[in-house]
Amino acid sequence: MVVCICNAIRESEVRDAVRNGATCPRSAYAQLGRRPRCGQCIPFAREIVESAVAA
Ligand code: FES
Repeated sequence: MVVCICNAIRESEVRDAVRNGATCPRSAYAQLGRRPRCGQCIPFAREIVESAVAA
């Protein structure tokens, strides 16, 4: 599933970024060499980060 339309970031990429140390959407996106643009994805991305951290 695509999380961030502006950057075409997939949920699996966000989860991988968390495994590599990201703790928030911004740091996860930074790891992918991208950064938030419109910001609409941030609440959803945060949920994914939190669930990945908890897993
Ligand atoms: S959808 Fe992620 S910054 Fe716009």
